[in-house]
Amino acid sequence: MDDIDPKLYLETRLGLPEDLRFLVEKYPRDSWAGHRNVHGMASMWLQRHDMFRELGGILTGSIADYREGRTDARGFAQFFGPRLNFFLGQLDGHHNIEDHHYFPIFARVETRLKRGFDILDADHHLIHDALEMNAQTANAFLQALTGDTDAQHYAADAYADQNSRLVAMLARHLDDEEDLIIPLILDKGDRELGGY
Ligand SMILES: [Fe+2]
Ligand SMILES: [Fe+2]
Repeated sequence: MDDIDPKLYLETRLGLPEDLRFLVEKYPRDSWAGHRNVHGMASMWLQRHDMFRELGGILTGSIADYREGRTDARGFAQFFGPRLNFFLGQLDGHHNIEDHHYFPIFARVETRLKRGFDILDADHHLIHDALEMNAQTANAFLQALTGDTDAQHYAADAYADQNSRLVAMLARHLDDEEDLIIPLILDKGDRELGGY
């Protein structure tokens, strides 16, 4: 993987750089749903990403419910624990298959986008570190739920920060990844890209 320009760091950039936008300009987001090549790989990808967005929102909402007193510690832990584990595990698996299977094929088929796949790969590393931090802070938080109220609040604040950082990183990554790969799939069709 090549070094990534600091302007393209996941937590500060505002989108894909101009030189990687030629396909998304040809196939803008509002045209995707009506394109004949959207069925299959592209739809599957978008659904998967929407699932991550939805689950991220549910986790964030459940933390807010607990912090604002709408759920008690026990109810919160029962709801939150299994969903967080599912979220973290699925996200890790999704990134693995992208890095090891799809991105190398896509970058070979469209070499002008290779730098884009390097950026996404670098994102995955950052997100992976944030996932680990998230799991650690979540465990500390879940353990603190059995302790005194101050400890609970402290751990809840620490976790809420970690979680909003992860969700923000993920939102940027999912949007940029879609802008890179969905137009490519629409342009080439599933078969040329080694389909599902
Ligand atoms: Fe990704
Ligand atoms: Fe993805």
